[in-house]
Amino acid sequence: MKGIILAGGLGTRLHPLTKSVSKQLLPLFDKPMIYYPLSTLIELGIRDILLICKRNDKNLFQNLLKDGSQWGLRIEYAIQDKPSGIAESFIIGEKFIKDDNVALILGDNIFYGVKYNIKNFKNGALIFSYQVQDPKRYGVIEIKNNLPKKITEKPKNPKSNLAVTGLYIYDKEVVKIAKTIKPSKRGELEITDINNNYLKRKKLKVCNLEQGSMWLDAGTFTTLLQAAHFIQTLQERQNIQIGSPESSALYQKFISRSQLKKIIKNSPKNEYFKNLNSLI
Ligand code: DAU
Repeated sequence: MKGIILAGGLGTRLHPLTKSVSKQLLPLFDKPMIYYPLSTLIELGIRDILLICKRNDKNLFQNLLKDGSQWGLRIEYAIQDKPSGIAESFIIGEKFIKDDNVALILGDNIFYGVKYNIKNFKNGALIFSYQVQDPKRYGVIEIKNNLPKKITEKPKNPKSNLAVTGLYIYDKEVVKIAKTIKPSKRGELEITDINNNYLKRKKLKVCNLEQGSMWLDAGTFTTLLQAAHFIQTLQERQNIQIGSPESSALYQKFISRSQLKKIIKNSPKNEYFKNLNSLI
C-alpha cells in the first residue's frame, strides 16, 4: 500500500498565520502539523509516501522530512500548482501509485488511535467517519438500513452527524475514476465524487472511528488551538508521543532502538527528544 499526504491549498481560513508559511508547517504543540498525518500513515504500516505540496513549499518540506530514510521510509515529493481539488492527488500521483492500493491523508487532519490493519484491505474504497456536532463543514454520510446511501459535500441540511474524515483508502481504480470526474460548482475535483462513485458500485465501506480515537481538523484558529491543547494534555498525562514519526517508526519496527538512540544523540537536548528518549 502506498500513501499520499496532500499538503497544498491556500490556507485562507488561517490568514494571516498562513500568508507566508504553509498551514501544514505550522506548529501544533511540539511538532510541525505535517508530522501528525505522516505518523498516521506510518502507524497504518505504510512506508512509501508521496507528499504533494505547492511549488514554493517543496524545499521547506524536503528540509524537514528529507527522503524519509531516517525513519525507515521512502518519501517522494510532487507539486500541485493550483488547489484544483483533493481528488487531483490521484492524477498527480498516478506514476507513484502504479498498480498499488493507496491511502490518502489530508495534511491538516489529526488522528489519534486509528486502529486499522491495512492487510484487511482488499479492494474498493474505505473511508473513516466520525460523529461531529457541526457536520455542515464536511462531507456527510447519509445512512439507510445501516448502509451508506449517499455522501454530500458540505450539505446545508445534513442528513446525519457522520462526517467523512480526511483519511481514505482506495484500490488502484481510483486513478481512472479521478480522471473521469468533473470539477464541482466550486471548481474542484471533489473527493466526495470519488467516494460516491465507489458507493454506487457497492464498493465503498465506511469504518466509524471508535470511541477512544480522536479526529481533529486543524484548519481554523479555534481547531488549531484545540488540537494543540488536546495533544499537550494527552502526551503529558500518558507520557506518550502523538504524531511523532520517530515514535511511530519505532513502534512499527521501521527503525531499531539503536537507530532511534542515534537520532536522539544527534539532536538538541530539548523536551521533544527527552520524551523520545523515554521510549527506549
Ligand atoms: O477534513 C475532512 C474534509 O476535508 C471532508 O469531510 C470533506 O469531504 C473534504 O472535501 C475536505 O473538506 P475541506 O473543506 O476541509 O477541504 P479543504 O479545501 O479545506 O482541503 C483540505 C486540505 O487539503 C487542506 O489542508 C488543503 C488541502 N488541499 C485542498 C485542496 C482542495 C490541497 O492541498 N489541494 C487542494 O486542491
